Amino acid sequence: MQDMISIAIKLHLGSIFLIFAVIVWGLMVLKSDKSFDVLSRQYEAVSLYHRALLATLFFTGLVVMAVAKFDVSVMAYVMLVVMLHMIATSIKENSIYKKTHLKNPSSQAVFKKYALKKYTLDLIMIVVLSAVTYAVSL
Ligand code: HEM
Repeated sequence: MQDMISIAIKLHLGSIFLIFAVIVWGLMVLKSDKSFDVLSRQYEAVSLYHRALLATLFFTGLVVMAVAKFDVSVMAYVMLVVMLHMIATSIKENSIYKKTHLKNPSSQAVFKKYALKKYTLDLIMIVVLSAVTYAVSL
């Protein structure tokens, strides 16, 4: 049982590392001063990996919970809430992005502002949550 929990946690940590890297990549794309056509092509690639990794992080978290027979710390429930927030903001980001297809500069500016805010917040939440989880478990 202990082996299964440690494998599940390793997969969970692997997903955290990968999503962190994808978010940093996303911030670099969003902060660059490329034309919106180029930016949007790169953003679509970032967004695809970001969504896949959100699902992986959620899934591996649930696996850790299930393998531990739901005997987990309160931090696991905080992680669940943070994850739901990340999913909700991703859905909103996608609906704002769809409006940029009108090629209207103001909708592009609104999208860039929201996406930058969302990715920055995701990054902060991942760092703070991981730090607090380790601090609590020490
Ligand atoms: C929001 C993104 C998340 C981050 C940044 C995160 C981060 C972490 C970290 C750093 C650990 C400690 C690993 C270790 O002990 O070495 C951990 C453990 C764990 N995570 Fe997450 N996690 C996230 C999402 C989730 C989700 C969505 C779930 C469940 C649905 C979850 C469930 C767990 C469980 C059960 C553990 C085992 C430790 C415990 O019992 O508290 N996590 N997570």
